[in-house]
Amino acid sequence: MKERLQKVLARAGLASRRKAEEYIAQGRVMVDGRRVEKMGELVDPERQTITCDGRPVRETAEKVTVLLNKPAGYVTTMADPQGRPIVSALIDEPGLRLFPVGRLDLDTEGALLLTNDGDLAQRILHPSKEINRTYQARVQGQPAAEGLEALRRGIILEGRQTWPAGIRVLRREPGATTLEVVIHEGRKRQVRKMFAAIGHPVLYLKRVAYGGLRLGGLPRGKYRRLSEDDLRLIFR
Ligand code: URA
Repeated sequence: MKERLQKVLARAGLASRRKAEEYIAQGRVMVDGRRVEKMGELVDPERQTITCDGRPVRETAEKVTVLLNKPAGYVTTMADPQGRPIVSALIDEPGLRLFPVGRLDLDTEGALLLTNDGDLAQRILHPSKEINRTYQARVQGQPAAEGLEALRRGIILEGRQTWPAGIRVLRREPGATTLEVVIHEGRKRQVRKMFAAIGHPVLYLKRVAYGGLRLGGLPRGKYRRLSEDDLRLIFR
């Protein structure tokens, strides 16, 4: 399959796409022995020989997945035209382009996976896998038992029934309640919308687990590389 040269270079872990464009413009990249300085050339990495500074460029075999404790105020993206802080700026893995698996709202914190393994990302995000996401939500007021029961059974949000949710009260305090919420859907701002729908807006939201993989004591803004065992926990 033909793809843009800078994309192939980036995916090979050689550099970011922008850096790869610089290399091309500098005349350092050859395709089948021919120097390519024009941007956007379509190449077939399986059939053509691509070199940079005379060294062959190959697809990276190394698949890396990290678990980040996303702070509030960071956008789940690899670039933000508005110039807000982005989650990829918190990842220091030279030569690897890790992209977020799904998203967390700007104002939500906690567990966010980033990976360069497209197949893994697909498996985690596909609804048929029904991977639970566990959240800690602090909501306004004291939700009544009936409201929580409605969320457990599923409510109509934007014309569509939500799947049954696991909901457990962790702590009650004057004016607010902290709950654990387990869902496997990833609708936009779903937890916030669920509690708003029963009249108890979310004050604070943190994702604490993907499947059986927990955030644990990972400090805010820090990440760790996941092992094969960690990856298996996601699907457990
Ligand atoms: N639900 C939300 O409301 N926000 C998130 O970021 C994730 C789930």
